[in-house]
Amino acid sequence: MNQKELNLILDDVKSFPSLPAAALKLLTLLKDEKSSNTQIEQLLRYEPGLTANILKLTNSAFFGLPKQIGSIRQAILMIGWKRLIQIVLTSCVSAIIDKPVHGYDLSSGDLWRHSIAVSVASEILVKELNLSVSEEVFTAALLHDVGKMVLGRYVKNDIAAIDREELRDMPFEQVERSIFGIDHAEIGANILGRWSFPPSMVTVVRWHHDPDGAPKTNHLIDVVHVADVLCLMSGIGVGREGLQYRPSQTACERIGLTEAHLEKVASQTLQTANQLAESLQADS
Ligand SMILES: [Fe+2]
Ligand SMILES: [Fe+2]
Repeated sequence: MNQKELNLILDDVKSFPSLPAAALKLLTLLKDEKSSNTQIEQLLRYEPGLTANILKLTNSAFFGLPKQIGSIRQAILMIGWKRLIQIVLTSCVSAIIDKPVHGYDLSSGDLWRHSIAVSVASEILVKELNLSVSEEVFTAALLHDVGKMVLGRYVKNDIAAIDREELRDMPFEQVERSIFGIDHAEIGANILGRWSFPPSMVTVVRWHHDPDGAPKTNHLIDVVHVADVLCLMSGIGVGREGLQYRPSQTACERIGLTEAHLEKVASQTLQTANQLAESLQADS
């Protein structure tokens, strides 16, 4: 590990772009059970760009609504404010992660499609397994690999060291740790921390590859971990990370996941994630 390189990585975390202020305010509203439709409407009143995106997406095939929606108020009534906030965050995050990540062999849009698929798979798992997990699961899953946006450049520069024979069978985040002294999960958690995201979401990103290593295990981490592995096993956004991932057995037990669920969740994920990705692409 090279301390100078680690310092450069940490500097890049500090200069990583932020989410728009309105998105961060909406996230606070999502956490608060007392939030009202009026508060959300008021916040979006001064955000014409976000409003236009919300309306386009609400009217897209993904929601399949019977009639055209023309205002935020109608959108809230039709899809609910929690869903609407997720849409806003999804559209903001897309601007940040919809880029090629060279070191990881992810072309433009690959990380984005993988992130959407993990969000969709997480929601399907929560429903299928009847878990009481907070609404944050969608956004936490969407951002689980954001650290790759910072680390990709360093992975590319150190590719000869990374491709060494003795590291070949190691899970990729362990390779990152041995070369850089940090992995993309910890970098992602740092980014979310800087964005003032709730600690529960920071924790999900930090432990998504090692749910059993978290200081306190919880279903939110377990769900995103399993959803991520499921998408990697289905070949959605694999890149350099490869296919050596298997879900943690104990995480699967904690959320009550059996083999029988896996196939169902995988096929539902593919279908829904494609629909959502297409709607968002049509949106840009
Ligand atoms: Fe990851
Ligand atoms: Fe991932």
